[in-house]
Amino acid sequence: MIKRKIKFEFSAGLRWTHWLRALSVFVLTVTGFYLAYVFVAPATSDEPVLFLNAKFRLWHEIAGFLLVSVTLFKTYLFLVDSVSIKERIAFMDFVNPKIWFQQIRYYLFLGEHPKLRGVYNPIQFIAYVGLYVMMFVICITGLVLYVHNFHDGLGGLLYDYMRSLEVLMGGLAMVREIHHISMWGILIFVPLHIYMTIFNSIMGREGSIDSIISGYKFEKPEH
Ligand code: HEM
Repeated sequence: MIKRKIKFEFSAGLRWTHWLRALSVFVLTVTGFYLAYVFVAPATSDEPVLFLNAKFRLWHEIAGFLLVSVTLFKTYLFLVDSVSIKERIAFMDFVNPKIWFQQIRYYLFLGEHPKLRGVYNPIQFIAYVGLYVMMFVICITGLVLYVHNFHDGLGGLLYDYMRSLEVLMGGLAMVREIHHISMWGILIFVPLHIYMTIFNSIMGREGSIDSIISGYKFEKPEH
């Protein structure tokens, strides 16, 4: 049996933001589908007590603000947190063509996993950059839609800025379109991400899925 070294991989901040993001994306997808296509409606009543659409929108907006907060916090961690230096260093592997070549060979079962300097391989790195672009786009378009629902409080504060962005994006109908397109981008990312984590966990045998829960990986010792 190979003895493995325990290695601290993901800080509590990274793990919490990961799972809160997963939760908010799940709630946003279910409620977002409802807002786009009302797939369930209560039995009609002449009392003004139903408001199912408003309730779905409320949960969409609660999860939406959770996603906005988590995205901002995670971006802050990526840029300045000392533990996240392992994420920033992954950029050096990303710009190294040799690592790209070795990584593709590994995924095609043709070679060993490259020795990485950071926590992400180049393919992971570009996928996560793409995910963050989509996250920012969906959060900003979500906020533009939001200021049309609530004109007081935060809605009032953001109103003028969001209306300017709305014009830049080509109007409210386009904002909605972009919100939908980024949703599909995220929905394509999720199964690929799950497939890749299972692949890496099985092939690498280093507990890479465990690390996003416990924070620790189990590395094979160097020969
Ligand atoms: C993964 C993230 C998200 C997904 C999958 C998602 C999905 C959707 C979908 C499918 C719609 C329906 C659009 C339509 O056909 O009219 C929608 C509407 C909306 N979304 Fe999102 N969304 C996400 C994030 C956000 C965020 C971060 C916010 C804001 C903080 C937000 C705020 C809104 C608002 C205000 C509406 C309009 C609700 C209405 O009809 O009044 N969304 N979203």
